[in-house]
Amino acid sequence: MTQIKTLDPSPSADISVSVVGLGHVGLVTALGLAEMGWRVLGTDQDSRKLESIKAGEAPFYEPGLQELLDKHLDSGLFNPLADLDDSISRASVVFLCVGTPQRSNGEADLSQLESVARSVAQRRNDYLLVVEKSTAPVTSAQWIGRTVERYGHSKDRIDIACNPEFLREGTAVHDFLNPDRIVLGVETDRAKDILLQIYAPLDCPKLVTDLNTAELIKHASNAFLSTKISFINMVANLCEATGADVTKVSEGLGLDPRIGRSFLNAGIGFGGYCFPKDIRAFAHIGEVHGVNMSLLRAVEDINLDRVERFIARLRSHLWMLNGKTVAVLGLAFKPGTDDVRESPAVAVARRLREDGANLRLYDPQAGIHARSLLPAEPGRVEYFDDPYKAVQQADAALVLTEWPEFAELDLGRVKKLMRVPILGDGRNVYDPSSVRKLGFEYFSVGRP
Ligand code: UDX
Repeated sequence: MTQIKTLDPSPSADISVSVVGLGHVGLVTALGLAEMGWRVLGTDQDSRKLESIKAGEAPFYEPGLQELLDKHLDSGLFNPLADLDDSISRASVVFLCVGTPQRSNGEADLSQLESVARSVAQRRNDYLLVVEKSTAPVTSAQWIGRTVERYGHSKDRIDIACNPEFLREGTAVHDFLNPDRIVLGVETDRAKDILLQIYAPLDCPKLVTDLNTAELIKHASNAFLSTKISFINMVANLCEATGADVTKVSEGLGLDPRIGRSFLNAGIGFGGYCFPKDIRAFAHIGEVHGVNMSLLRAVEDINLDRVERFIARLRSHLWMLNGKTVAVLGLAFKPGTDDVRESPAVAVARRLREDGANLRLYDPQAGIHARSLLPAEPGRVEYFDDPYKAVQQADAALVLTEWPEFAELDLGRVKKLMRVPILGDGRNVYDPSSVRKLGFEYFSVGRP
């Protein structure tokens, strides 16, 4: 469980917080603020999710989240409310953590942000600070301010701020309570003072900027991390063509402190609900403002090509895929989470199904969610609760998410259970020579 510091500010009475939207960002934010000693109201338009939270069940898996939910329902510092009006009217600071999903053209859909902004506008008669925490394209916070003004609230009694989240799934609670930095986009000293007070218990650099700069920091951060990943995957492609070893290239690059080793792990690419969505939204908003964002288009193209390349590698070992039995170990977009949104592992599995392969699937956490993207079909698509069952009689086994338990698998036992010992490693979990010594035909990413 994530080690949670007990932070003990003396919360000032005139700050009462409301969090609108209790998803991966909102619920962690609400419980993280409660853990810091703030009194937090929470609300969400999804009544099922709200009921689950009120019943004390975290609606998704995050290390440390269930413990915080238990603790702060009990302490009374976290109070989930069904009614948005009530939640807004009782708070002096409202954190907007609603979804900003992507449209088909990549543009961020800000309709949830706008509708909450209009609710805020119609219900205030004293000071309110509205904080945009959802990841939104630059100028969105300015639009929230215009919307609040336009739909009924005078500008002098409301402030808008942007306080982007930098939470990684699988470590979100830890990341919230131990941030590398806090970014505060504000327009007034009053807003700045309130946010500095709210985050006073957290010991990290606090960067105060204007609204647009704060929004750009968030998008640019995710775009840069995605660029690092696509860069090393591009290099991995050249390593495959020349027999070089991309893990050694990453090590060599990473020893330069200007580059840094992290986010240089070659594999089947980046997924999740942030990187793919954020680089499309960032590229779109840049192009709307007449800026050439082709660098990010290339980052996305490289990433989308990972799945095809990996399938081609498998085909070069298996020949025909049709009718073959392929075991897939790992479906989550990354280890430590049950989230399969934009997961490259699921994308590989679905392509194999389209090519006629029979799938035997296993993931320690994400199987339940993968079923909605890749429904079970007896004899064609089957889910197992044990990796050794999944590999039984398989003509190939693929490891597509680097869950720690896969590094501990008894590969000798796996080989005996398989019909043909072909092992495809989409996340470079294993050492090629030791796997081949066991008798596997092995391939991975960017390595001989
Ligand atoms: C990311 C950012 O890290 C976080 O700061 C932001 O707030 C939200 O988006 P997250 O999407 O949860 O967090 O996961 P992350 O750990 O960043 O990984 C994203 C994807 O990149 C995963 O699919 C992962 O497998 C992939 N990845 C990561 C690589 O392929 N190679 C790497 O070296 C690192």
